[in-house]
Amino acid sequence: MIKFDETHGHLQKSIESYQETVNRIHEQIVNKTGAGNDYLGWQDWPVNYDKEEFERIVALGEKLKDKAEVIVVCGIGGSYLGARAAIEMIQGLYPDNGHEVIFAGNTFSSTYLKQVLNHLKGKSVILNVISKSGTTTETALAFRILREYMEETYGKEECRERIIATTDKARGTLKALADKEGYQTFVIPDDIGGRYSVLTAVGLLPMALAGVDIRTVMAGFLKAYEELGTADLQKNTAYRYAVSRRILQDQGYNVEMFVTYEPQLAMLAEWWKQLLGESEGKEGKGILPDSATFSTDLHSLGQFIQEGNKVLYETVFTVKEPTLDMTVPNDPENSDNMNYLVGKSLDWVNKQAFRGTLEAHEVTGNVPNLIIEVPDMKEYTFGYMCYWFFIATAMTCYMLDINPFNQPGVEVYKKNMFKLLGKPE
Ligand code: PA5
Repeated sequence: MIKFDETHGHLQKSIESYQETVNRIHEQIVNKTGAGNDYLGWQDWPVNYDKEEFERIVALGEKLKDKAEVIVVCGIGGSYLGARAAIEMIQGLYPDNGHEVIFAGNTFSSTYLKQVLNHLKGKSVILNVISKSGTTTETALAFRILREYMEETYGKEECRERIIATTDKARGTLKALADKEGYQTFVIPDDIGGRYSVLTAVGLLPMALAGVDIRTVMAGFLKAYEELGTADLQKNTAYRYAVSRRILQDQGYNVEMFVTYEPQLAMLAEWWKQLLGESEGKEGKGILPDSATFSTDLHSLGQFIQEGNKVLYETVFTVKEPTLDMTVPNDPENSDNMNYLVGKSLDWVNKQAFRGTLEAHEVTGNVPNLIIEVPDMKEYTFGYMCYWFFIATAMTCYMLDINPFNQPGVEVYKKNMFKLLGKPE
């Protein structure tokens, strides 16, 4: 499913020389004995996911299909990025399926939220609020405002159908509020952290509401679990990627740029940044995850990559088959001098841009390139890819002796902000 090519990576050590380390860490991952093992629930989630809840999600997606003209997903971080990455990757940026998905609760921006509220007027809205803790300020504040809009528009009774909460199974402010108001609730499992939760109700419900085939997503997730259950570096491409990152950092590269050639993958890059950045960036360690969309950013960041400070390597995420394609039309007058491309597909042009850039950056610019190739941007691939990145992240963090599943650093800004806001202790 996923091809990984490190031959342009300028690796000065062989990946295979890490086999013993990988064997040891693989045991820790599958036996759930490593640091942060309380949060390894994602590891066997492809087989152990809550089947009854899954069917409820499928049924709700089906039931609300006609009402979900606009789906507002209210959440932040791991309670938002995965769903957005999935929906954009699978449906593209301008899908023509009668559903519009809007994200809120991920910013304090007054202008943004006010414009969202204006945009909702006159449309049929479903609101899914997602928060594991139930206390995240960005999400709770936006939800209060959105809830007021929903109650004024539809009345409390109809809101029981239109507002859905995804949160802890028993604890927390959001769970209590949802129970009091009679909203449907879905569960974020205790042993799965935010950035590993996209294939729980956190991501599956927004996907189902938006019309994504979540059964196929889970089939891809299961396939990856089966295929990647081996420590063998000849077979496990996710672990090859994890090891390559460690080799490149040892060679002095402290920035990884995740590059795609499809605008609909920009949010996938954001999801990847959270996964790697929040998992690995601790104790003064880690590689800074950055991202770019080519060829767009070749006209901005391209200069730095080609000739600037050699701090980074690129991980290029390529797609074999685009979702849609077209050919370059003929212009008998050739007034724009583009006739040399007549009859070529736009995707072919995009692929030549990739090949030309690879040579420019790797050979001329001396920038290492790792290449991840997926077959397409469809459901099965998305599910497979999630597991691939999860185990790659766990492996690469454990190789650094880092707990991949906590995020103590994010509390610091909150503490300062609460003091300034006058939040009661
Ligand atoms: O990965 C994480 O744990 C975080 O990004 C959280 O998902 C994010 O802070 C939102 O938290 P919550 O779901 O509790 O509102």
